Amino acid sequence: MNLRMLAPLLWLFMLHCVALTARPLSLSNCSKTDLTDLNETISALSLRNCSIERLDNAFFLRYTQLLSLELNDCGLIELDDFALHGLPLLQTLSLAYNNLTVVKSWSNEPLAALGTLDLRHNAIGALNEKSFDRYPQLQHLNLAANLIEQIEAGIFHGLTHLRHLNLGRNRLQVIDGSMFDGLHRLSTLSLHYNAIGLVEPDAFQSNTHLRTLRLEGNRLESVQFLRERGLSRLVSLNLSHNLLKQLPHFSFSKNYELQHLDISRNSLCELTNDSLAGLESLERLNLSHNTLSHMEEHSLAPLTSLLQLDISANLLTNLSSALFHSNRLLQYLNLSHNKLKVMESQLLEHLAQLTNLQLAHNKLDSVDWLQHLPSALNRQALSVDLSSNRLHSVDQSILNGFKLINLADNPWDCNWLIKNMLRTSPASINFARSWPTISAETESVLNIEGFDCFDGQKNLSIVLLDVSIVRKQSDVASSCEHATDEGNLTPPPLTWPKIRTDRFDSRSVIIWMLVAIALVFAALRWARRHVDRKDKQKNYRQATNHCNNAK
Ligand SMILES: *[C@@H]1O[C@H](CO)[C@@H](O)[C@H](O)[C@H]1NC(C)=O
Ligand SMILES: *[C@@H]1O[C@H](CO)[C@@H](O)[C@H](O)[C@H]1NC(C)=O
Ligand SMILES: *[C@@H]1O[C@H](CO)[C@@H](O)[C@H](O)[C@H]1NC(C)=O
Ligand SMILES: *[C@@H]1O[C@H](CO)[C@@H](O)[C@H](O)[C@H]1NC(C)=O
Ligand SMILES: *[C@@H]1O[C@H](CO)[C@@H](O)[C@H](O)[C@H]1NC(C)=O
Ligand SMILES: *[C@@H]1O[C@H](CO)[C@@H](O)[C@H](O)[C@H]1NC(C)=O
Ligand SMILES: *[C@@H]1O[C@H](CO)[C@@H](O)[C@H](O)[C@H]1NC(C)=O
Ligand SMILES: *[C@@H]1O[C@H](CO)[C@@H](O)[C@H](O)[C@H]1NC(C)=O
Ligand SMILES: *[C@@H]1O[C@H](CO)[C@@H](O)[C@H](O)[C@H]1NC(C)=O
Ligand SMILES: *[C@@H]1O[C@H](CO)[C@@H](O)[C@H](O)[C@H]1NC(C)=O
Repeated sequence: MNLRMLAPLLWLFMLHCVALTARPLSLSNCSKTDLTDLNETISALSLRNCSIERLDNAFFLRYTQLLSLELNDCGLIELDDFALHGLPLLQTLSLAYNNLTVVKSWSNEPLAALGTLDLRHNAIGALNEKSFDRYPQLQHLNLAANLIEQIEAGIFHGLTHLRHLNLGRNRLQVIDGSMFDGLHRLSTLSLHYNAIGLVEPDAFQSNTHLRTLRLEGNRLESVQFLRERGLSRLVSLNLSHNLLKQLPHFSFSKNYELQHLDISRNSLCELTNDSLAGLESLERLNLSHNTLSHMEEHSLAPLTSLLQLDISANLLTNLSSALFHSNRLLQYLNLSHNKLKVMESQLLEHLAQLTNLQLAHNKLDSVDWLQHLPSALNRQALSVDLSSNRLHSVDQSILNGFKLINLADNPWDCNWLIKNMLRTSPASINFARSWPTISAETESVLNIEGFDCFDGQKNLSIVLLDVSIVRKQSDVASSCEHATDEGNLTPPPLTWPKIRTDRFDSRSVIIWMLVAIALVFAALRWARRHVDRKDKQKNYRQATNHCNNAK
């Protein structure tokens, strides 16, 4: 162990001692005059919502021990050229949420210890060569939510230690080849929510350590720049919310370390066999909210490390039966909000690690494919959401043994449903959905379990009433409580008849089923009338929606 390795430790230790002997100070709602007689030994000064439009030269000269200085939300418009002079130990400076229009060093000597500079939420429009020339140790620079339209070549040249640069929510349109030149240690670059339509192919050529790149919320139509060598160490890439229509062959062939890729909310129509070639380290892929209608049989084949895949909210009607055959580690698969009519029996046959399968809002009319899950799969750990599909009846023996199967909002056949509900089904299978109902007494919304079913031409809605739950909910909702007596149940605060029940068991289901079917239309009519009357009141908007849906 040599001495040079100890030096940084000693330095840290010294800083630590300074921090311990000096004191931090936070002020809010203050004015400039409150700052004239502070204790000179303070190490951290944090001002929020003070009123300081302008800082004069050498304003903090007496506070030589300052390590951290924050002036947030103080209406700062201008700092004199040397306002920060005399702060040799300063490590953190935040001037966020002010009205600054320029960036300077505001000192006539380098702020040699400054590692973090936060200038979020100002009105900075342009950067110039002098902006960052006295910040030799800067590692974090936050310029998000400003008005920056353009960055000239060489602006960041002096910042050789910079690791994290945030330029999100500005007005950049083009990322050209020289903007980030020289930032060899840059590890995180955030360019989200600008108006970027073009990233030049050599834009990140010298940023060989880039691990995280955020480009979501821009106007990109092409990802051509990804093929350049600079991005070979990228781990996380966010391209969500852009205008991508296609992924040309081998777009990601150089990003072999990429683990998280988000391409959600674009306009992709199809994935070809080569679209995702090269992504063998990828663990999380989000393709949701596109317009995918076709995925070639081997389009996911390169993704052998994939753990999480979201293809929800697309236009898929069928999936090739070998689509997932290479993704043997997949744990989470979201296929909800598509137009799937069938699931091929071989589709999931290699997914032995699956724990979460989302298929809600599709057009499936059968669950037989669940019989073909791999035998190595732990069914006790798997949740399947099949709500809002087109199931009329299912063979319940197929559904036993899973962690959770959600079957709510399917067009059940009434005869089948009632017959099968009478055999108590395990708690892991859920048929019902929540049924918001307005209670007349408390004027609050009670959530009751129920389901719809279809009996030839008639649509029926069955509501499961468990009086003890209704009563509990109304007690919570109502502020004027009456004393309740366990032996003597108070009536439910609903307008339908008082009926006693103990527990939700199979016997009461029989009784309730019959009663509820008879009552449900009356109840719904009542609810609708009640809702209409209250229509104008904001509080009931939500309830109204549910009721209309329930119809
Ligand atoms: C600042 O002023 C506002 C409004 O006058 C007040 O609500 C708030 O509590 C004040 N904050 C402090 C820390 O005094
Ligand atoms: C900020 O300070 C002003 C005046 O000192 C006060 O009116 C305002 O409510 C304060 N705002 C907050 C969020 O404390
Ligand atoms: C400033 O703080 C230090 C350390 O807490 C204390 O010893 C000193 O008396 C204070 N000085 C003044 C002028 O309050
Ligand atoms: C400073 O910025 C705030 C928030 O952006 C804005 O409401 C305020 O009008 C600005 N003040 C001046 C003097 O420009
Ligand atoms: C990508 O950006 C969107 C929008 O900001 C965000 O919701 C999403 O979580 C991000 N994805 C990843 C993988 O971080
Ligand atoms: C994609 O791969 C499958 C299986 O190898 C093959 O049948 C199909 O023709 C390929 N598609 C294209 C466009 O090459
Ligand atoms: C995928 O992206 C969508 C939209 O950006 C987001 O709502 C969803 O949570 C993401 N999925 C995952 C699994 O992160
Ligand atoms: C699956 O995707 C849908 C639609 O994007 C989303 O609403 C849902 O929350 C996702 N499911 C899970 C479990 O993340
Ligand atoms: C999906 O359905 C279309 C139209 O029915 C058919 O042409 C195509 O071959 C099917 N694709 C797969 C992968 O089964
Ligand atoms: C039953 O519901 C379906 C879909 O919600 C609807 O199309 C149909 O008209 C309804 N039938 C009757 C008799 O109300």
